[in-house]
Formats: sequence, C-alpha cells, structure tokens
Amino acid sequence: MARVIGCVTTSHVPAIGRAIERGLQEEPYWKPFFDGFKPVHRWLAQAKPDVVVVIYNDHGLNFFLDKLPTFAIGAAPEYHSADEGWNIPTVLPFPGDPALSWHIINSVVADDFDVTTCQGEMVVDHAVCNPMALLWPGGRPWPVKIVPVEVNTVQFPLPSAARCFHLGEAVGRAVASYPEDLRVLVLGTGGLSHQLDGERAGFINKEFDREFMASLTADPEWATRYSTVELVEKTGSQGVELMLWLAARAALGTGGGSGDDAVRVREVAATYHIPISNTAAGMMLLEPAA
Ligand code: DHB
Ligand code: FE
Repeated sequence: MARVIGCVTTSHVPAIGRAIERGLQEEPYWKPFFDGFKPVHRWLAQAKPDVVVVIYNDHGLNFFLDKLPTFAIGAAPEYHSADEGWNIPTVLPFPGDPALSWHIINSVVADDFDVTTCQGEMVVDHAVCNPMALLWPGGRPWPVKIVPVEVNTVQFPLPSAARCFHLGEAVGRAVASYPEDLRVLVLGTGGLSHQLDGERAGFINKEFDREFMASLTADPEWATRYSTVELVEKTGSQGVELMLWLAARAALGTGGGSGDDAVRVREVAATYHIPISNTAAGMMLLEPAA
C-alpha cells in the first residue's frame, strides 16, 4: 500500500528561483534560508520518496481570475514550468503519475470534494518549482513524480482553513488506500505572513507565524478556528497561503482528534527567517511519530 512518509511545508517566494539560478546560496542574505534545507536533504536521502503530492496555489498562470476553481488536481503525465512575470528561469518538466492522480481524484470526490480535474496541460509556477528546487537542488532529472493539488488562495471567496484541513485529510486517506507500494511525500507551499501590495505591503506577523508553526505539531486544528478574513488580517493577503501548510499537515493524519488526541508527528527540521523578499520565509519537515 502507498504511505505518506512525511510532509514538508515551505515558502515559495519567486526570488528563491532567481537566487538558485545565480548561485547565491552562500551569500549572507540567502545563506540562513538555504542552510535550513540541509537537514531536509539528509532526510530525503534516507526517506527516498517516489511521489510528491504538492499542495499549492496557482498565481494566475494556469488559472486566471475569469475561471478559478476552488480545488484542482492534475492528472497529466507531465507538468511544465512556465512561470510568467516573475523572471524566473524555467526548470525541467515534472513527471506526473496519472494513475495515482486519478485514484486521489476519485477518492476525494467520493469524500464530497468537488475538484476540477486537469488531465490535459497543467502548467506550474513558482509555487511548485521553487519548493521542488529547494528539496532537490539541481533537479536534473527530478527523482520523483508529482501530483499537483491546487487550492484557490488568490481570489475571494476562498475555501476556509477548516475545508483545506479536511481536503488534506482526504488526500491522506486517498494515498493510504492506493494499492501500489509507494512512498509519498506531501509538500505544502506558500506563506508565511506576507502582503505584496496595498496599504499593508510588507506586513509580517512573527508572533502568529510562530504560533501557527508550533500548532502543526502540538494542535494541528488550531488554525481552523480562524475565518479566511481573519487569516488575511493576521497574516496578510498572501499570508493566507499558510492554509496550504495546514492541508499538507492534515494529510499526515490526525486520527480525527485534536490537542492531546491528535496523531503525533515528529518535527525533523524547521526554520523561520525574516524576510525573504517581503515575506516571512518558513520551512518545516514533519514525519509520523514512531
Ligand atoms: C512573493 C511571495 C509569494 O508567495 C508570491 O507568490 C510572490 C511573491 C514575495 O515575497 O516576493
Ligand atoms: Fe505565493
């Protein structure tokens, strides 16, 4: 049977892609951020995932404001990187796993999630490419297949944090019921607190980010008490992307409980670094507790 072996959550700031291209990993501005991924590389070398389910938000590249699904799942054999407007070099295409994609789609639809299925072309932006390049520097070729799970965090109305959490749980159940012996990593991208424009441009809320990160191990449903408007107030209009961390954490399983009853996870690595660009850049690697 397939198994979720862990979950990585990370910011996906476009400038990361440019820094990688220019080889700036050792520059003082970037070093603390990139160094945070070293324990993740060691863990990946041991854990050897076969597939990555990437829970992310498209930024107007594949979907635009005129037609914007709340949830979309890719079922294509390949996903091309085609970021627009951010001046990031494209990376090699990501191989897909259509059979696993269709299994997850069927399973979450049976669980009452109305997802848009993308079996044709589904191009991916910095929210997929940068986290993948942080996990597998070089990426030539990518050593894993991906299943993209896209969530609208861009244009209201957004799905609630609770809904994102339940989607993550449904994805976790879907993986656990897949008959092939696959090792699956869940990757949640976005956040943490940031606002790119408007009066509060540059807004960062370190206290909330820290509390949110701690909640993912101690009390995973903590963030579901907030409405999306409250999350925008607390974290900025793009900080609301942290709901994708929440969905990824939920895919590790919670046993239906919260607080002391939640399924235990172990924090293997975590970093929090202010700022990268205008954004609080964080990363966590969690695995099921033995
Ligand atoms: C930035 C952060 C994002 O999450 C994004 O999608 C685009 C830009 C930034 O901090 O520059
Ligand atoms: Fe973003």
